[in-house]
Amino acid sequence: MDKTTTLLISLLFSFTYLATSLSKNHLCNQDDKNALLKIKKALNNPHQLVSWDPESDCCSWYCLDCGDATVNYRVTALTIFAANISGQIPPEVGDLPYLEKLVFHKLTNITGTIQPTIAKLKKLRDLTLSWTNLTGPIPDFISQLKNLEILDLSYNHLSGSIPSSLSTLPKILALKLSRNKLTGSIPESFGSFPGTVPDLRLSHNQLSGSIPKSLGNLNFNVVELSRNKLEGDASMFFGANNRTTYSIDLSRNMFQFDLSKLEVPDSLGVLDLNHNGITGNIPVQWTENPLQIFNVSYNRLCGHIPIGGSLQEFDSYSYFHNKCLCGAPLDSCK
Ligand SMILES: *[C@@H]1O[C@H](CO)[C@@H](O)[C@H](O)[C@H]1NC(C)=O
Ligand SMILES: *[C@@H]1O[C@H](CO)[C@@H](O)[C@H](O)[C@H]1NC(C)=O
Ligand SMILES: *[C@@H]1O[C@H](CO)[C@@H](O)[C@H](O)[C@H]1NC(C)=O
Ligand SMILES: *[C@@H]1O[C@H](CO)[C@@H](O)[C@H](O)[C@H]1NC(C)=O
Ligand SMILES: *[C@@H]1O[C@H](CO)[C@@H](O)[C@H](O)[C@H]1NC(C)=O
Repeated sequence: MDKTTTLLISLLFSFTYLATSLSKNHLCNQDDKNALLKIKKALNNPHQLVSWDPESDCCSWYCLDCGDATVNYRVTALTIFAANISGQIPPEVGDLPYLEKLVFHKLTNITGTIQPTIAKLKKLRDLTLSWTNLTGPIPDFISQLKNLEILDLSYNHLSGSIPSSLSTLPKILALKLSRNKLTGSIPESFGSFPGTVPDLRLSHNQLSGSIPKSLGNLNFNVVELSRNKLEGDASMFFGANNRTTYSIDLSRNMFQFDLSKLEVPDSLGVLDLNHNGITGNIPVQWTENPLQIFNVSYNRLCGHIPIGGSLQEFDSYSYFHNKCLCGAPLDSCK
């Protein structure tokens, strides 16, 4: 390259840089920027947010997304994860009114309760506050966030009962409340959701009581209830009638029901029932199902393990500790 070309190219680059940085400076909304700078300060200026420089366009900052021109480039997503950040979720998160996605994930030094100003974020579609050290209840106001599709509050220390009002969320697709200290029973209202039936993940809590019969009317794709203190009948999740259920995990509860006549949907890939008080025998129909994960150990089952399908692909640990279950992969029946 001759000198003129080099000069021209570098000039071109400088102009492009200047032009983009100038135009970008116009993108960020001043109210959003003010709120974000307060959030940064409240979190003690963590290293993770070093790009949040007041002189630059906030739409270029890390951990953020701005919407397009149709929303005047307002901040639509705030995603902070795996950082060394201590303190509470700052109230100023409620001053980002175009936020559709708010994620605080894997921040074990984040403490306190679920920030009440989140109630103002009416456009939220994804609220994920997971693997933090949040305490206190799941607030009722969450049911006012009518655009919510994902609610993930798993891996915290949340206590109290599950608000029954969560079943009024018209667009909810996933309720992930596993690994907390939630008590009380599964709300009766969870037998009806106005829109799509959400994935229900409530494992590793202290939920008790029996499952409302009405949940049997719903076609859940995923039901995870393991490691609670739930009791009684859970047969309502079975039955092949038009269901597309993929995963049922009821392990480590106190369920008692008879398996003998229950059908499993063709779609079922995961069935974990270990550590309950389930009786009866394993239906022959289950051999027709392409199960990938299967565990009925530590129950009170009896009779022959039906031969066929994937049932002999699991080892004895999927079947052991039952009352009188027999046949491959366990010892042959007497
Ligand atoms: C949490 O805070 C404590 C005390 O300041 C600190 O020692 C620890 O490294 C922090 N942990 C993480 C994951 O940031
Ligand atoms: C987190 O930050 C605290 C205080 O700034 C520091 O003492 C600690 O070593 C950090 N922890 C990690 C895991 O970086
Ligand atoms: C966060 O939770 C962990 C696990 O329960 C606990 O060991 C730790 O002390 C908690 N940290 C804070 C800052 O509360
Ligand atoms: C299954 O779906 C069909 C067609 O949508 C419907 O007519 C039938 O009543 C359903 N059966 C059950 C048991 O829900
Ligand atoms: C089934 O559950 C039992 C009891 O928790 C466990 O020991 C066993 O490893 C599990 N089997 C499989 C295949 O995961």
